[in-house]
Amino acid sequence: MKIKLWLTLLAAGLMALSIGGCSDDDDPPTDPGSTNMFAGYRDWTQVENTNAPSTLLGPAHNGNNGEFTRSIFTTVATMIETGEYDEGTIFVKETHTYDGDADHMFADPMGLLAMVKREPGFDDAGNDWEYFNLNPDDLSTIASGADLGACKGCHMQASGDDGEDFIFLHPMEFEPDPADFDDYATWNLIGTEQGPDALLGPAHEGNDADAVRRIYKKQLAANPDGLGDGYPTGTLVLKEVRSGAGDVIGMTGMAKRGGDFDTTNDNWEYFMWNPANGDLADRGAMAMCIGCHGAANTGTNGKDWVFAHEDDPFNN
Ligand code: HEC
Ligand code: HEC
Repeated sequence: MKIKLWLTLLAAGLMALSIGGCSDDDDPPTDPGSTNMFAGYRDWTQVENTNAPSTLLGPAHNGNNGEFTRSIFTTVATMIETGEYDEGTIFVKETHTYDGDADHMFADPMGLLAMVKREPGFDDAGNDWEYFNLNPDDLSTIASGADLGACKGCHMQASGDDGEDFIFLHPMEFEPDPADFDDYATWNLIGTEQGPDALLGPAHEGNDADAVRRIYKKQLAANPDGLGDGYPTGTLVLKEVRSGAGDVIGMTGMAKRGGDFDTTNDNWEYFMWNPANGDLADRGAMAMCIGCHGAANTGTNGKDWVFAHEDDPFNN
């Protein structure tokens, strides 16, 4: 029942998106051969995990399709702020999602890309980076070169505030506009709750026996157990409370901002609207919300500050 709903929702979501489709690859092989320089990249430093739209990426690489998460791994321990990365440095980027069985899937094409810093003189105009399009099955190279496709032309933008040495800034912070929540009624309904809840007490009209609390999640495939630390940056959830008469009497939201927004509480921003007129009443790393949502991190209550809901494929 649960799986079926998730399949239906995902199928509807994918149909609504103009994507090139997915390959049904499983996770990359852990041992593609010791000569493969990308072997074991998931054990390197992970510097990004985001489903947030990127103005730098636009529609390229599913950059504005929130059902896909972009995860970036590198051989270096820290991102540089000035200068150039050392010869031999590698960055790998996965663009991925989850299918109806919550199995990991790569975008197809271009689900697995890489950049390798070559020897001085390899490509003076491009700071000696070689670009790779990889086969996620065995990490073999589909195509590579300093002038592969539009790679270099776009990565040239990675300077100043946006990055350094053709490598974009990571981790990026998602800066939500309250209007990003406006179309929540079109998101995925992951839970419908009514009546008292021990975790809720009087909050969110939890003591009003007639009130119905509906929880919406924008990106159904956002997985708190995925490759990053909790939900991907960019994840949005909203709770709408309606009275028995059907009037909206409560509206709260959460956005995973990432970056260093509030590192002690895993970088969530909380939002509260005035249900009478729909105006934003408050936003921020609000102590009142954090104090209670911390309970979601315990046992089976939920994951990464978000409570469990029946129709969330990963947190239920
Ligand atoms: C339209 C612009 C654009 C094009 C074209 C593009 N990229 Fe990127 N790429 C980005 C952005 C922006 C990021 C930062 C992460 C993100 O938002 O997904 C990125 C990230 C990466 C990363 C991780 C390192 C970093 O800079 O963050 C690799 C590796 C990468 N791209 C490889 C490629 C390859 C290979 C190609 C060509 C096949 C390519 N990219 C084409 C915009 C682009
Ligand atoms: C007393 C505890 C408590 C407080 C305080 C609280 N919440 Fe919640 N919140 C919950 C519980 C429990 C749920 C689970 C859904 C339900 O039963 O209504 C929830 C659900 C939510 C959801 C849906 C996602 C999820 O975690 O289930 C959002 C969004 C939300 N709360 C936002 C806020 C915001 C914003 C604040 C601060 C203004 C806040 N909450 C304060 C207990 C609390």
